[in-house]
Formats: sequence, C-alpha cells, structure tokens
Amino acid sequence: MPSEFARTARLAQQFGFGGVQVRAAHGFLLSQFLSPLFNKRSDTYGGTIANRMQLLLKTIEATRAAVGPDFPIAVKLNSSDQLEVVAAQDQSSVDLVDISGGTYFPGAEPASEGAGRGAYFIEFAKRARASTTKPLMLTGGFKTRMQAEDVVASGIVDIVGLARMPVLEPTLPDLWKEGQRPEPLSQIHPQRAELPLGIRYG
Ligand SMILES: Cc1cc2nc3c(=O)[nH]c(=O)nc-3n(C[C@H](O)[C@H](O)[C@H](O)COP(=O)(O)O)c2cc1C
Repeated sequence: MPSEFARTARLAQQFGFGGVQVRAAHGFLLSQFLSPLFNKRSDTYGGTIANRMQLLLKTIEATRAAVGPDFPIAVKLNSSDQLEVVAAQDQSSVDLVDISGGTYFPGAEPASEGAGRGAYFIEFAKRARASTTKPLMLTGGFKTRMQAEDVVASGIVDIVGLARMPVLEPTLPDLWKEGQRPEPLSQIHPQRAELPLGIRYG
C-alpha cells in the first residue's frame, strides 16, 4: 500500500505538480490506522500509537523514495489524533504538517473545536507547534483574510489551508495576498457546513 501512494506521488511529480500531500485525516484509510476506534489489529500495525502510525511513516518514506529529496511532501493529520503522531514527523522526511479534522462518516459528531467562526482546529495547532519543529499548516474554517493573517502573524502556524473559500471564489488566495477582498463574496453557513463530499466540519 505505501507503494501505491509512492507511485501516485511520482506520477503527480511527472505531471508537473509542485508537491503532494499524504492524506492521513478525515477518516480515510491512513486515518483509520491511526485511530484506536478503527484499528483493532493485533500485528505490528495495531495496538500502541507507535504501531498504529507505522503505516503512515512507511507511506511517507516510500513516497520520499519515489519523488527524491527536493519534492515537497506534506502530511495531513486530524486534530483528534495524538500529538505523538505530530511529534514523530520530526523523524520523517515530510516538509509540512497540515492540521485538519472532520470525518466523512455519516452521523459523526462535528470535529470543529471552535464555536463555528474562524479556524476550527487552532487549539490543537498550538499544541502541535510545541510538538514538532516541522513547518505547520492549519486547514479548516478560515473565511476571512484577517483570520488567516492573524493565525500566521501569531506564529501558531506558518501556512493557512483553504478549501471551500477558493471553491466559492477561485482567485481569493491571490486577492488576499494582494491585500484585497477581506471577505469572500458568497458565504458558507458558519455553524454547520455540509460539504459535497459529505464531510462535516462545522
Ligand atoms: C470539494 C472538496 C474536496 C476535498 N478534497 C480533499 C482532498 O482530496 N484531500 C484533503 O486532504 N482534503 C480534501 N478536502 C478537505 C479540505 O482540504 C479541508 O480540510 C476542508 O474543506 C476544511 O477546510 P475549509 O474550511 O477551508 O473548507 C476537500 C474539501 C472539499 C470541499
């Protein structure tokens, strides 16, 4: 399985992408391996958190071997995962740790920590900052330029990830970089956002 991630990353590189992200969040396979709720294995991939993160670490290393030392690799982790997984990235070859949350499982409790406005997973990001020396990204809930600027200026994370806002307005990141358009033109309901994928974040 790590070889499939590695092959896909290599293809992305060959097609001219600037980097890849290993998605170990949102309840998908690598996320399930990390979670004691899903991972009931009795082999070396189950049990302790050190065992449960083995597949992720092997996936990152296989991906690195496939794309070489200079191609950016990020890993996306859920804020519900242990800080040990964040800390372990110091020994991995990822270039960036992206903190997110939520799950695609229908009926799951909302994963956002906040009250609905602003970045959802900021408290976990603060703890993650103390757990790793790798650059940190925070994804989920950013709706205004000021929210994004504040979290970077405060030093909590280095980069902000945006998904739904650029879906609503594809040029928004460029506008924000130019200091324009503090709010997107359209708005997502701030309290409860049901995405097309079925992932609930709010
Ligand atoms: C249409 C859509 C597709 C997405 N696909 C991915 C994906 O392939 N990989 C991933 O890590 N996250 C994916 N996400 C989740 C986003 O990266 C992000 O974590 C989430 O939307 C919260 O950020 P936001 O509040 O800026 O939308 C997707 C989100 C949307 C709306």
